[in-house]
Amino acid sequence: MDLGKLIKREVLAQKAYAAEITTCRIKLDANENPYPLQPSLQEKLFARMKDMALNRYPDPGAPALRKRYGAVCGVDENWVMTGNGSDELIQVLCASLARPGAKLLIPTPTFVMYRIIGLNCGLDVMECPLDDAFDLDLPVMLDKIAAESPALIFLSYPNSPTGNCFSEERIRAILEASPGLVVVDEAYCNFSGKTFLPQLKRFQNLVILRTLSKVGYAALRIGFLLGAPALLQELNKVRLPYNLNSLSQAAAGFFLDEEPAFLEQIDRVVEERKKLFAALQNIDGIDPYPSVANFIFFSCARNVNHVYEQLLRKGILVKPFVFPWISQQFIRVTVGSREENEAFIEALKRFVAE
Ligand SMILES: Cc1ncc(COP(=O)(O)O)c(C=O)c1O
Repeated sequence: MDLGKLIKREVLAQKAYAAEITTCRIKLDANENPYPLQPSLQEKLFARMKDMALNRYPDPGAPALRKRYGAVCGVDENWVMTGNGSDELIQVLCASLARPGAKLLIPTPTFVMYRIIGLNCGLDVMECPLDDAFDLDLPVMLDKIAAESPALIFLSYPNSPTGNCFSEERIRAILEASPGLVVVDEAYCNFSGKTFLPQLKRFQNLVILRTLSKVGYAALRIGFLLGAPALLQELNKVRLPYNLNSLSQAAAGFFLDEEPAFLEQIDRVVEERKKLFAALQNIDGIDPYPSVANFIFFSCARNVNHVYEQLLRKGILVKPFVFPWISQQFIRVTVGSREENEAFIEALKRFVAE
């Protein structure tokens, strides 16, 4: 068997996306919520799951959850699709739109899975570097939209890894100019307080993605897609029927019941973000960018792969970024608990001074 002949060219050309090791002491690489569910809530959740019929398939399409989540967002269930994490919904979008020659337009740097999933689904991926303020380079993007008519555009809002929200007017201009879908990925909206939800019914081509991964449920893989019912009818043909398992459906309902407790943890993360940002500002050779997400992106005067390795030896995991078109090197650090952030800052200070 010759795998080189069997596997798609786009897949062969990729390096495998390595989800990072998780056995480190302080895990600040994946933008998770550092706080576990309070024990009393965990007990309540598990009690709810205790009598679930594990021998039965889950409710296909999670109708009850879609209805509840839709109500929170001011739409009916036909505007909502659930996914096994928002990653899966990105895949459903790409797979549905990947006609021969179809194009995906993304800014860069941004969430890496847009590119990987787009390529794997056969989309022709076009990347457009952000401007110096890490905002969308509107003239270049509008030119690409006019010339290439991308079927799909992903905009992470706030953007990962940079931590800022692109300007609203630029996103609106892209929505107006684009003949294809414009996906505003609001994975971090609980930290920014900003959303395009009020625009959902105004723009037929607007799709919003949400996830519960960043608010405390990363293990449960629960994502939501919001978009026009006619579009969702088509996307539903691509979605696997039982994509959200029964335990996750129950846990998502529990999240909606107990949202204030989850949001209280978000407030704590936002408080810690302020402290972490100030501490980073005080280190020579480190230049953090303002963030409205649960992570901070900073440039580092030292070789970031070296700093990454040194931190890892101390059991601290972060994410280094080197881009061929930018001379600076960067690290993205997730906002952890106060103790985790302090340990990270102490170690970073040492390694940057060395
Ligand atoms: C911008 C963005 N979108 C989507 C995701 C994926 O989230 P999920 O865990 O729901 O698949 C992430 C995860 O890091 C992300 O940063």
